[in-house]
Amino acid sequence: MNTVAIIGMLWGDEGKGKIVDLLSEQANIVVRYQGGTNAGHTVCFKGKPLPLHMIPSGIFNEKTVCVIGNGCVINLKSLYEEILLLESEGVDVRGRLFISKRAHVTFPFHIEIDKNIEKKKGSRKLGTTFKGIGPCYTDKFARVGIRVVDMLQREELEALLESYFSTFTGRKDEFDIKCIAEDYTKIVQELGDYIIDTVSFLNREIDGNKRVVFESAQGTLLDVDFGTYPYVTSSNPTIGGVCTGTGVASNKIGRVIGVAKAYSTRVGKGPFPTQFEEGFEEPFRKKAKEYGATTGRPRRCGWFDAVGVGYSQMINGVSSIALTKLDCLSGVDKIKVCVAYKINGKNGKASFPPDTASLSRTKPVYEKFDGWEEDIRGVNNEKALPRNAIKYFKALEDILRIKISIVSTGPDRKDTILREKIW
Ligand code: IMP
Repeated sequence: MNTVAIIGMLWGDEGKGKIVDLLSEQANIVVRYQGGTNAGHTVCFKGKPLPLHMIPSGIFNEKTVCVIGNGCVINLKSLYEEILLLESEGVDVRGRLFISKRAHVTFPFHIEIDKNIEKKKGSRKLGTTFKGIGPCYTDKFARVGIRVVDMLQREELEALLESYFSTFTGRKDEFDIKCIAEDYTKIVQELGDYIIDTVSFLNREIDGNKRVVFESAQGTLLDVDFGTYPYVTSSNPTIGGVCTGTGVASNKIGRVIGVAKAYSTRVGKGPFPTQFEEGFEEPFRKKAKEYGATTGRPRRCGWFDAVGVGYSQMINGVSSIALTKLDCLSGVDKIKVCVAYKINGKNGKASFPPDTASLSRTKPVYEKFDGWEEDIRGVNNEKALPRNAIKYFKALEDILRIKISIVSTGPDRKDTILREKIW
């Protein structure tokens, strides 16, 4: 099967965008299957970093078709702005981007609800991206959501909004329904050619042996079922999300590449067992440029967590790992890897606790590795790496018992060591 799923191993921001971009050089189609504008991928295009929030990173390869699957929640306004931005940078989007008719739409009121919930006294503070993701998925599962296909006719959209506000939120008077309906039908009309039945399109293309990349947003530990609940997003970045978010059956997923940084990061609230000690974290964050692509928030940084990554391997049936940002560890004297969690004084070797209370109490058990001084940014040949850098990622292979097929040493496509043929 000519299909590859690219999945984040921990809390997102693993550098999936670059890996997708790399693979899409030889892919026919790249598909996003969950999430919305909460995601942020910065891809270097002609030397310029371009942040994408909704459009799959494959858009920078002119032969690749990009699909936003039914599992996504789409902010149509910002999607449209993203299309205009890409076009202004000389990227041809029309005819190469398709949006699922079944995808749900995030409206400004979802964003408002998201902000209100986060700010409400006594509410759980999750540190969301304020993009309306939770409220939009809530509506989807409460069966009051509005899908792209429902917006093709203005009257139909207006009627749905009427019923939404009167029966669900009870806040009908606060919103100008006619105005929202008019605004959004205009955008949908602008996007007319982009909107298709992506389920039949994708299955037809896969059956025709086309190369397809499934691109996750966020990561396994932000998955609403398997992540560090409630400090998670509201969708399934994990492997099952590929099927429900695209309509492609599990036996059509050929290979799963798990993307993990050579260290760990986390944005937002929630337990993070391997977080660096204070004095070390700030300078590291600056050097590694660990700030959110969507919100600009500083990311919390920590050591590689082999327990979290191992758990994620199991859930996703990972075939091999893409290890990113190895260059950011240059100059670190001793590099630690968390190989077990100590919970209540006992080593819980491979188990990842299902509750945040236990995870907050865990004490990481570390193995230490000698670092290297050399700047390895841009190295694309394994033999040119310092001995300790090779030792480090080979030790990760041993600990995780999995092949690292790609090592990334910088943001550019060419800053990559390809250790195994992917296609
Ligand atoms: P939401 O997805 O905006 O509802 O946010 C829920 C949690 O997921 C928060 O902790 C966010 O910081 C986190 N999150 C959402 N999207 C991303 C992402 O693309 N990278 C990293 N964290 C994310």
